[in-house]
Amino acid sequence: MNEWEPNVERQLRRDLAKFSRWLSRIGFTPGTAGNLSLRLDARRLLVTPTGVSKGLIRPSDMVIVDLEGRLLAGSRKVTSEIDMHVAVYHVREDVGAVVHAHPPMATAFACSGRGLDQILCQEAVMTVGVVPLATYATTGTGEVAASLLPLLPDHDAILLENHGVVCCGQTLPDAFMKMETVEHLAHLTLVAHQLGSARPLRPEQIQQLRSARRKYQENSQACSSDSETQVQAAGAATIAT
Ligand code: 13P
Repeated sequence: MNEWEPNVERQLRRDLAKFSRWLSRIGFTPGTAGNLSLRLDARRLLVTPTGVSKGLIRPSDMVIVDLEGRLLAGSRKVTSEIDMHVAVYHVREDVGAVVHAHPPMATAFACSGRGLDQILCQEAVMTVGVVPLATYATTGTGEVAASLLPLLPDHDAILLENHGVVCCGQTLPDAFMKMETVEHLAHLTLVAHQLGSARPLRPEQIQQLRSARRKYQENSQACSSDSETQVQAAGAATIAT
């Protein structure tokens, strides 16, 4: 073991607790809802345990599993949605973190059988794009992973029918910010339709924005590497608190 590995794990545990509490503070994880994970290294995931408030969770509560979801370390039981997390990492080698939550607006869309499939605002193109709806699956079963499989290759944010939202990203802040964005898009989609004159962007406008997006992403990556201590541990990334 490298001498810095315990420090990396300690920092990643703190990050997972910090973003769990943040999700809770903004009302995305009522009760014990939600679960988060990240790649600890090439063979292991650091994951939130089942049945714990994300507002009260501590770094020491986190558990470690292998890439099949089998418990390797930790005194608690792993999240009931571990199959969903594992499925994302299997399909998407580029993904370093997964966040599942129940943000109210986006979950209301998922409970109404509606994805966020109209591009109404520029921000959608710049961030998560269309957010599709995965078919109904019973929470805590392998059905959830199966429902995601057809959508995962092309989407970083997916609504789960009658359930919630799952987002993935290269890093934990990346996955977290996608979750925030999905909720924002759900909110403004609802209001635009309530106003009665929702105007989706035209295909040529979307095309122009896709070009702008490449530039925007280059700039935001440059900014984030200035402000974050990125700790690379065989694919795992974190930010300093
Ligand atoms: P866990 O407490 O098992 O992580 O489950 C919470 C949840 O949101 C299920 O979808």
